[in-house]
Amino acid sequence: MTLDTASLNELNVIDTKEQYQPVTIRLENVAKTYGSGETEVKALSNVCLNITQGEYCSIMGASGSGKSTAMNIIGCLDRPTSGAYYLESEDVSQLSDSQLASIRNQKLGFVFQQFHLLPQMTALENVMLPMIYAGVSANERKERAIVALTRVGLSNRLHNKPNQLSGGQQQRVAIARAIVNQPVLLLADEPTGALDSKTTQEVLNIFGELNEGGITVVMVTHEPDVARRTGRIIWFKDGEVIYSHLSPDELSSVMYH
Ligand SMILES: Nc1ncnc2c1ncn2[C@@H]1O[C@H](COP(=O)(O)OP(=O)(O)OP(=O)(O)O)[C@@H](O)[C@H]1O
Ligand SMILES: [Mg+2]
Repeated sequence: MTLDTASLNELNVIDTKEQYQPVTIRLENVAKTYGSGETEVKALSNVCLNITQGEYCSIMGASGSGKSTAMNIIGCLDRPTSGAYYLESEDVSQLSDSQLASIRNQKLGFVFQQFHLLPQMTALENVMLPMIYAGVSANERKERAIVALTRVGLSNRLHNKPNQLSGGQQQRVAIARAIVNQPVLLLADEPTGALDSKTTQEVLNIFGELNEGGITVVMVTHEPDVARRTGRIIWFKDGEVIYSHLSPDELSSVMYH
């Protein structure tokens, strides 16, 4: 007879305080090399990293330390040169381009420093876009885009084009676009890099709310105050993870060494 988690809990075999958290991201000995011969660059080596469902993490480290390379692999925009990457227990490191595209569309949301909105489209149309690839009907696309834009506080800017919006509002449209397909994982590469401090706080408040709603959030940042808003800081140096679980309080001692 095999016992499931619930039965083991009833038998008090499992300490209920240590609830099992499914792993969303598991990188096993991931390496990434660009180019070859004289121009070879080892952007990542030996990266092992687990991120569990519902975590809110930031990735820090000097320029060139491999943060974006790691995010591109985690975001299924690129494949490791060697090693394995499990996303929700599925090894995605060997999948084809079209399989990766489908995983990105179904499971992942992206936010970048430069918002990457389509300039000729309204906020509403920009947010509706990912659902076209997901095969959602036109009516439902519109409804869900309005819900997502309302969630980021932009219900009064549905029909504005990006150049009629402030930087913070454009980033909020990008966040709405990232969450509209209900991703399991939200990835953000320096999402506040182009924003002033007040707008940065607004964007971080939204990330915090989304995380409380259950989305796993991973964010690259150069700003310690931004990283401190997350629960866990991962520190990269020369293509390796040298600290995988820094707390906000431990950050200062690492930064000034
Ligand atoms: N497409 C590429 N071709 C060749 N080398 C690359 C490529 N992308 C990144 N690199 C190199 O890989 C290393 C890691 O780059 P990466 O962009 O991951 O750094 P980063 O930590 O994101 O830096 P930053 O903080 O400046 O954004 C760097 O040495 C970089 O020059
Ligand atoms: Mg980068």
